[in-house]
Amino acid sequence: MLAVALAGTVLSAAQDVRPLVIAHRGASGYRPEHTLESYRLAIEMGADAIEPDLVSTKDGILIARHENEIGETTDVAEKFPSRKTTRRIDGREVTGWFTEDFTLAEIRSLRAQERLPFRPHEYDGRFLVPTFDEVIDLAASQSRAIGREIAVYPETKHPTYFRTIGLPLEERLVAVLEKHGLTAKTSPVFIQSFEPSSLQRLRTLTRVRLLQLLDVGADASPARLREIATYANGLGPNKLLVVPVDPQGRLGTPTSLVRDAHVAGLFVHVWTMRRESQFLPSSYDGDLRKEFRQFASLGVDGVFTDFPDMAVEAFQKE
Ligand code: G3P
Ligand code: CA
Repeated sequence: MLAVALAGTVLSAAQDVRPLVIAHRGASGYRPEHTLESYRLAIEMGADAIEPDLVSTKDGILIARHENEIGETTDVAEKFPSRKTTRRIDGREVTGWFTEDFTLAEIRSLRAQERLPFRPHEYDGRFLVPTFDEVIDLAASQSRAIGREIAVYPETKHPTYFRTIGLPLEERLVAVLEKHGLTAKTSPVFIQSFEPSSLQRLRTLTRVRLLQLLDVGADASPARLREIATYANGLGPNKLLVVPVDPQGRLGTPTSLVRDAHVAGLFVHVWTMRRESQFLPSSYDGDLRKEFRQFASLGVDGVFTDFPDMAVEAFQKE
């Protein structure tokens, strides 16, 4: 097995370091996302890190959900029909059921369900929505059980919105990490966010590694990367910022982003690798392993994927 860029801030490209395999919302290609069962399966499949996106309950507990609207990923509509409402979140009107309206005890009565119609639905209605605390407990207990360190990779979701409604994420996130002794730069934890202000606040609260997420259209100039390096340790670009794809699914010439980020002192973890044709450019001929290998050859330090087993296989040395 190759070494993995988990301890310390590693700028890879070194021949003997393979990219970190980050289980995006768990092994979410196989189980409902953000459930302990999805994270456990990811670890069994060989993932190096498990990714919970974080939002807050009404009583200030951080739970693993991709967004605070939970109508799509739980059975909340069935159990709390009257709580449906409309909110303005980050400049957008959203109608549904919101975590900030539910106590943890109420969230406990819900069961997770698969978001995407083309993914397995046989596990719908079976699994709980976990707290961040439980996700860390799982990573720690599995690390001990298998003798391999599993990192946690939380993302602050809608952090400005949550702060404005009196449920700030960052202080609570750091408090949970501290409770588990995750306080050092080399601790098995990375925190990510799209919002620079969330990361800048976190920088004043913790020494653990921080990663700035960048979506298509964001400024990824060398000057911006140098700025990011003043408060973060890594860059998390949409994969299209590294390998552009045309509307026919044909791959373009890779950009200089990975190199530029390394020059700025940032490690690079790209998102999100998925095997379905809706997400995988046609040039890879339906073979997700080819995409993993191309990004590895471009020197990325980690990949977020819904299919951690396929990343592990793709990165295996013959
Ligand atoms: O966190 C990396 C990637 O997950 C960002 O996108 O929307 O899946 O959280 P999202
Ligand atoms: Ca995420």
